[in-house]
Amino acid sequence: MENLGTSRYEQEKRLLHGGDYNPDQWLKYPSILADDIAFMQKVRANAFSVGIFAWSALEPSEGNFNFGWLDKIIEDIAKIDGNIILATPSGARPAWLSSAYPEVLRVNARREKMLHGGRHNHCFSSPAYREKVGIINTKLAERYGNHPALLMWHISNEYGGECHCELCQANFRRWLVEKYGNIDSLNDAYWSAFWSHTYNDFSQIESPSPIGESGLHCLTLDWKRFVSDQTIDFYRHEIAPLRKITPNVPITTNFMGEVPNPHPFAGLDYAKFAKEVDIISWDAYPRWHNDYETTEFLASKLAFLNDYFRTLKDKPFLILESTPSMVNWHPVNKAKRPGMHMLSSMACLAHGSDAVMYFQWRKSRGSSEKLHGAVVDHDNSVENRVFKDVQELGEAMEKIAEIKSSATPAKVAILYDVENLWALSDAQGFHGGANYNDKKYPETMLAHYRAFWKRNIPVDVITKDKDLTKYDLVVAPMLYMTDAALMEKMAAYVADGGRLVATYMLGVADENDLVHLGGFPQVLRDVFGIRVTETDVLYPKDRNGVAFGEKQYEAFDYCAIVETHGAKVLGTYTHDFYSDSPAVTGHKYGEGAAYFIGARTNEDFLGDFYAVFVQNSSPIIAQEGVSVQVRENDGHTYYFVMNFTEEVKHITTEAALEDMLAGQMMQSGAYEMKPYGVYIMKQTKL
Ligand code: GLA
Ligand code: ZN
Repeated sequence: MENLGTSRYEQEKRLLHGGDYNPDQWLKYPSILADDIAFMQKVRANAFSVGIFAWSALEPSEGNFNFGWLDKIIEDIAKIDGNIILATPSGARPAWLSSAYPEVLRVNARREKMLHGGRHNHCFSSPAYREKVGIINTKLAERYGNHPALLMWHISNEYGGECHCELCQANFRRWLVEKYGNIDSLNDAYWSAFWSHTYNDFSQIESPSPIGESGLHCLTLDWKRFVSDQTIDFYRHEIAPLRKITPNVPITTNFMGEVPNPHPFAGLDYAKFAKEVDIISWDAYPRWHNDYETTEFLASKLAFLNDYFRTLKDKPFLILESTPSMVNWHPVNKAKRPGMHMLSSMACLAHGSDAVMYFQWRKSRGSSEKLHGAVVDHDNSVENRVFKDVQELGEAMEKIAEIKSSATPAKVAILYDVENLWALSDAQGFHGGANYNDKKYPETMLAHYRAFWKRNIPVDVITKDKDLTKYDLVVAPMLYMTDAALMEKMAAYVADGGRLVATYMLGVADENDLVHLGGFPQVLRDVFGIRVTETDVLYPKDRNGVAFGEKQYEAFDYCAIVETHGAKVLGTYTHDFYSDSPAVTGHKYGEGAAYFIGARTNEDFLGDFYAVFVQNSSPIIAQEGVSVQVRENDGHTYYFVMNFTEEVKHITTEAALEDMLAGQMMQSGAYEMKPYGVYIMKQTKL
């Protein structure tokens, strides 16, 4: 559902700058609340997520509502021309609610009932929770729905987790009945004859548990699918009164990236969830300045996630949370070095964000997040480094406001499938022994992604429901779970002229995680012109090699052994019993071509392999470590040039470009960039 046409959001010309604001913690400190309003203007903040965890303040006891404080906050923010992103408060609940309706408390996978406390821990099935959420959401919509400052709805907070209570078990069983119709079909999909796990009746089915079933892989998959569906169902319940009362106010809910791994939160299928929200938003907390990876490498992880979230709806998204300084939950909570706040924020705008928002506006005084970075520190000072960094960014964001809504012109797509991640995590095999329980699917996506990132080629990170036809190149690493529909889609894409790259582990199992019978599937044999006959798994220190072009490259972890059936051999193994056999192949199929990379390799191979596929037409040539990212609209192209290193770097521009931050033209020529330096350059389209 898209309701953006007439909304304040559509009309807002500024990039959003602001963050989570919790005045409900400061109601006894009126002078602090007054300072907040003054400070917001100072840093050019214009958007605030309010009410996220404010249920106790809004409904101190059952049925007794208190909106006075929120009325005042909204008025005060409206007076400074600020936007309100109004949250529904379901992310945490008041004590009265848990005591009166214990069913709202979750039960974990070990079947232990949780006590009241914490947050993000309610049962998504509970009718009582749904009822209470429905009431408070309706009240909020009725009271504030027409307020001119209301920009959008922020639903709950970082949905996630699962509940194994009896209400949820009953819903899960209903979900299974709907999917399978009869227990025989379920048994077939689950391969339940294995270890005599055959079910006689749906009533025997329990969600996966460490004290129960964990070996039926399709049960685990179905449970994860159910958890996604059930969370979305709860979300739909949350938004029903909002859609009804405020049909023109767009809706978002903050998604998560999984840090430090380069993949989105894996507890939900965001591809499904994305269809239910108007605007994608996510919370980004990279571990800048850590001691195990370069800034450039970390920047590419952040870029990958930004590209994923942008591609979910093929349009700009919002960074709804980030920290202006440090967090309180990394193993080491390091401060951002000078320049990093500007750089890390621009890094998100560069990949399609229309916002830089913070957790949190003001540091709380007590409880678990009192040491988490914020725009306003306990010193209440507008002179400290963090505050000034935020102010500087606010000013910069005003200078580049015209980038709002501009697009990212990607012709390369990398396919990331969360169900594939789920299936690979379950698969007891490959690197699945006690010590090597990591198949590195996300890391492999990132390695392929980096081949493009390092060349400044824009990439969409797509999910499997997406249309492939608009891309010149689609890369699908480690696609273990390859169902018939996806295989047909890939075949059609290549037949029509697309170029497809896949790797080891391609085409092992179907959507039920049942292995394809007959070996490497026929469709894939036709498209790739090969048959994968075996997959060798290497110990961490083992090495094979790939001879490709004039060079040799290291191969490790996985080496697929391949027979060609029409494909051209582009690279061969250098060692072991499959020495000289094909390691890299290419095959013309219809109007297009399909390539297969049999082994896991380092970035040097991927860089050389993809070099022939992509050209960069950018007028900016940059040294390694400097990333150049593009956004564009009808009239202009915007180049974000970012030095993700601790060194001075050089760039050369081959056209006259406008330096938007300095407000002056840059003639073509060589320029120096300081460590963490940023340029935003604008080019008018001819
Ligand atoms: C999450 C939550 C916030 C806050 C931050 C801290 O993103 O949504 O409420 O806890 O983490 O980094
Ligand atoms: Zn439950």
